[in-house]
Amino acid sequence: MEKSMRKTVVSGIRSTGKLHLGNYFGALRNFVKMQHDQQCYFFIADYHSLTTHPDPKALHGNVRQILAEYLAAGIDPEAATIYVQSDVPQVAELSLLLSMHAYIGELERTASFKDKVRKNPENVNAGLLTYPVLMAADILLHRADFVPVGKDQEQHLELTRRFARRFNTIYGVEYFPESVPYNFGQDLVKIPGLDGSGKMGKSEGNGIYLSDPDDVIRKKVMRAVTDAGPQEPNSPISEPIANIFTIMNAVSEQSTIDFFKEKYATCEIRYGDLKKQLAEDLIKTITPIRERIEAIAADDAYLHKVTREGAERARESADKTLREVREIMGIHHF
Ligand code: TRP
Repeated sequence: MEKSMRKTVVSGIRSTGKLHLGNYFGALRNFVKMQHDQQCYFFIADYHSLTTHPDPKALHGNVRQILAEYLAAGIDPEAATIYVQSDVPQVAELSLLLSMHAYIGELERTASFKDKVRKNPENVNAGLLTYPVLMAADILLHRADFVPVGKDQEQHLELTRRFARRFNTIYGVEYFPESVPYNFGQDLVKIPGLDGSGKMGKSEGNGIYLSDPDDVIRKKVMRAVTDAGPQEPNSPISEPIANIFTIMNAVSEQSTIDFFKEKYATCEIRYGDLKKQLAEDLIKTITPIRERIEAIAADDAYLHKVTREGAERARESADKTLREVREIMGIHHF
């Protein structure tokens, strides 16, 4: 796409480590597709993860892991700007400036904040309260048009738009855009878990990870919930079995899927065979990615280069925004 027609896309990835199949077929593959058509900024939100006071060593390991996983999955640092949030401390300044127009009441009413307070009443720190302000700063730092995020982030995006509008109104400028969530529509593949119902998720504890070795994948698949089997020809497919087929749709050949659907329809299906096939097809998809993850995670020089160049490009865009915001707010003294 012509450079001038490109939209700016920003998405932050929490550095909590380990991507699963749902992340891969849901978000990640679409990031890879859009990186060539839009001006994309993908960053690892390590400042955000500090709200839960991670062990410093663990934090560093997680940032490295997630970076390696994104690169292994096909994010191209030449096409997209990939960086670590804390390498661009300008975001902290923008967050401070935006916080002057963010009201305690609206921050306290945010669902994610209330949730955290309920779950960890002993750690209600100020960073937790201003989490949405920092997130707005991430997005507005590059004046993003689109923000590809899951449903759970929509309230944060609403706040981002509210802060942007408020800023524009107070200073009488049309400066910040209204950044809208980007959902991939038809391209969004939802990967279910193998525990009978619901989606695959980290918190659901049912993830098959891109870093899982072959035998772990086999074990996880063999444990998948099934049912008593079709009792009569052409019976409808129950949810646990439909979930297995949904995952097959993402990783298996059409002829394989047709074969097992036919066996199901004629009541000849053996779930053991179905699972074995799924495990092998998953392994075929995941093994090359896992090998790339391991190679990249061990390549310090490459990780340094990627993050240094990414930070440079991100800082350029950040500097421009801060220069303009300071000007608008009257912070340009001598
Ligand atoms: N809050 C997001 C999450 O939990 C991560 C995030 C931080 C983010 N800053 C962002 C997402 C900016 C999109 C844009 O997943």
